[in-house]
Amino acid sequence: MTTELGTLYGVGVGPGDPDLITVKGLKILKSVSHIFAASSPKNHYSLARNIVSVHLPGVRMEHLSFPMTRDRSVLEPAWRENAGRVLKVLEKGDDAAFVTLGDPMTYSTFSYLLRTIKSIAPDLKVVTIPGITSYHAAAALSNTPLAEGEESFHLISGARGGDNLRKIIDTSENVVMLKTYKHFDDIYRSLEELGLLDCAISISRAGLQGQTTVREVRSLKGQEMPYLSLLLIKKKGFHL
Ligand SMILES: C[S@@+](CC[C@H](N)C(=O)[O-])C[C@H]1O[C@@H](n2cnc3c(N)ncnc32)[C@H](O)[C@@H]1O
Repeated sequence: MTTELGTLYGVGVGPGDPDLITVKGLKILKSVSHIFAASSPKNHYSLARNIVSVHLPGVRMEHLSFPMTRDRSVLEPAWRENAGRVLKVLEKGDDAAFVTLGDPMTYSTFSYLLRTIKSIAPDLKVVTIPGITSYHAAAALSNTPLAEGEESFHLISGARGGDNLRKIIDTSENVVMLKTYKHFDDIYRSLEELGLLDCAISISRAGLQGQTTVREVRSLKGQEMPYLSLLLIKKKGFHL
């Protein structure tokens, strides 16, 4: 007789403040027999794990290593290895959760796990519990409406610099740019070229120790930004 696979839960634990995990997410984490958390192979540091530990002190979590590279020949074996480790638990019939910072469906390692594990076990039941994203937390703490009336907003990545902003700026009144750390110099240049330096707020480490909100983005010229940084950009400015 074959054992039915357990359910995999993808749980968003919110952007940093442990109070911003959802009641549902926490309920799931209390109910599963195994919790996985992503870590970078360099430092084994998982903010999601720290948030869970505040609510479930002493709970054991297994770390899955997600390399910080774009090299598919490194990424794909790591994703398969991670999927295999999760499947090992599910094959016993146990439920497992994978915790992720913010929301699991927004620039999250959960999507790599989901895709890989579904390619191996297409019938696996996966349930995703949404989380409060970094930019919803940033919008709240700076009292910034993301979109009003007929306006739209774009969510873009700044991981490769300011080109995504240059591409979409004519089509949107509001832009949220995540990953504004590595190529902040080019992101700054794009804001300057587009006349948006006075129309942006930079928020780093929202809800975490060292949180900063910078409304004078010009003061960031030439600075190194922390990994957990984003920009809220409003073409009409921030006058409420
Ligand atoms: C891999 S993405 C994760 C996004 C996450 N899943 C979410 O729902 O917000 C990492 C980027 O999210 C943003 N981020 C995540 N947490 C943040 C925080 N507490 N404060 C500011 N930015 C944050 C930063 O732009 C960071 O570079």
